[in-house]
Amino acid sequence: MASEPKSMDEIVALCRRRGFIFQSSEIYGGINGFWDYGPLGTELKRNLKNAWWQDIVRSSAIGPTGDPLHVVGVDCTIIMNPRVWEASGHVGGFNDPMVDCRESKARYRADHLQVLGAVEPAARLYAFIANDDDQRERAQKALLKYERRDSLDALRHQVRPFTALSPDERTRCVGPDAKEPGTLTEPRQFNLMFKTNVGALEDPSSIAYLRPETAQGIFANFENVVNSTRVRVPFGIAQIGKAFRNEVTPRNFTFRSREFEQMEIEFFIHPSQAKEWYGWWRDQRFAWWQSIGLAGDNLQLREHEKDELAHYAKDGAGTSDIEYRFPFTAPDFGELEGVAHRSDFDLRQHAEHSGRRDKAKYFDAERNERYFPHVIEPSAGADRGTLALLCEAYTKDPSRASGVFMRFHPRMAPVKAGVFPLVNKDGLPEVAERLFADLRKRHVVEYDPKQTIGKRYARMDEAGTPFCFTVDADTLTNQSVTVRHRDSQAQERIAMDAVAAWLDAQIRA
Ligand code: GAP
Repeated sequence: MASEPKSMDEIVALCRRRGFIFQSSEIYGGINGFWDYGPLGTELKRNLKNAWWQDIVRSSAIGPTGDPLHVVGVDCTIIMNPRVWEASGHVGGFNDPMVDCRESKARYRADHLQVLGAVEPAARLYAFIANDDDQRERAQKALLKYERRDSLDALRHQVRPFTALSPDERTRCVGPDAKEPGTLTEPRQFNLMFKTNVGALEDPSSIAYLRPETAQGIFANFENVVNSTRVRVPFGIAQIGKAFRNEVTPRNFTFRSREFEQMEIEFFIHPSQAKEWYGWWRDQRFAWWQSIGLAGDNLQLREHEKDELAHYAKDGAGTSDIEYRFPFTAPDFGELEGVAHRSDFDLRQHAEHSGRRDKAKYFDAERNERYFPHVIEPSAGADRGTLALLCEAYTKDPSRASGVFMRFHPRMAPVKAGVFPLVNKDGLPEVAERLFADLRKRHVVEYDPKQTIGKRYARMDEAGTPFCFTVDADTLTNQSVTVRHRDSQAQERIAMDAVAAWLDAQIRA
């Protein structure tokens, strides 16, 4: 079921209808690249973040050395001293190539544009956004009309990256939303950090940035954490928090947003152990995403080629992406999490820029050695993770009243159980309400006494609620309830006083 084609439009519509995700400021026409989570979406995303925090910080796994991992958490500010971003390289280098269209006023990421044209004579080229089927089709139609052909088969044609065009070719290129050629500007570098001013004065001395990643708060606090806790290398510092990037073309629902949340671990190790820890984290993180419901063939692990690596990672143990095949990337995959050997780049940069130099080095008492630890960084997106869970869960089933159900892993499901009296009379509501009151002490559960049982199941199916408990006339005599399983729709009876423990076990499984 995992690899059936799914419609992103339908998933977005369900998210809005059932209160998973809304456009931010929708009543004012929205704002591009910003999204709000509704009641169900908030629970879903919280479950994802809580599971990550629980599994990474609170009950860390056994590491490759056979010892339990030591990972501690921090919660740093979004606005930091701007020198942090000079040291990290973001002020100078956190840029995307941007192209403007003088005709349509639209703005594109140059590296997301492709151009279609006849091999020769190529008088006109048509640009489209990669992975956007509608745009590609529009470009094809325009090219065929211009070349007076019926099909692409009848034309020797090629698709190339926009960035590969010569200045002359750019003058002959029609933008994705334009009619005339030559309206796309030359690619310009555009810094993605949002700027603001701190304090009453709006001048260059008060400029600050909204953090574009949570990682730097961790690096800037490395010495504080070492000095205030008992952590010793190898250990990790984890953080979940908002990050902001003024993306040139936010798109694909929440996938590329301008405000999003990251879940990042900086794991500090002795430089000689980079390979071992890199491989361990890569496999561990891949298995984690599988464990929370992305178990099918839509999840893949992709090791980076040498030419994709950041400059500081060139000679490192490696970099890989954990990727998900979203409906809008299919048949390709989009990044959920990156696992990178960042060497000692960040710690060294902060030691240099803060003037702390050798004082910032870590003293390893066991080795009697002073050094800058190397870092393995598993960096995941909470919004992309939530989106992957939504896409994976979306399952059509024409035999159901809802026509669709959300197959969330029970640990991720926003609502764990529905509690219903079969009929809203005869003493059944009182018993069902008691069960509801008991279960809601531990879990998000919903009580629903209204309408037919079929309609109540349908509502729960769309919300992805894995279990529904129904109190009926038999409950009054034998103290058992019916449990209905969302995926199989099978029903069984269990003792009412065993329901709470049964539900706990299902969620943990
Ligand atoms: N500290 C490393 C770092 O920030 P990144 O690959 O730029 O690395 C890590 O970001 C993760 O953050 C990505 O894998 C993705 O899940 C998420 N992410 C990055 N940019 C995003 C955006 N514009 N919208 C939503 N999520 C984003």
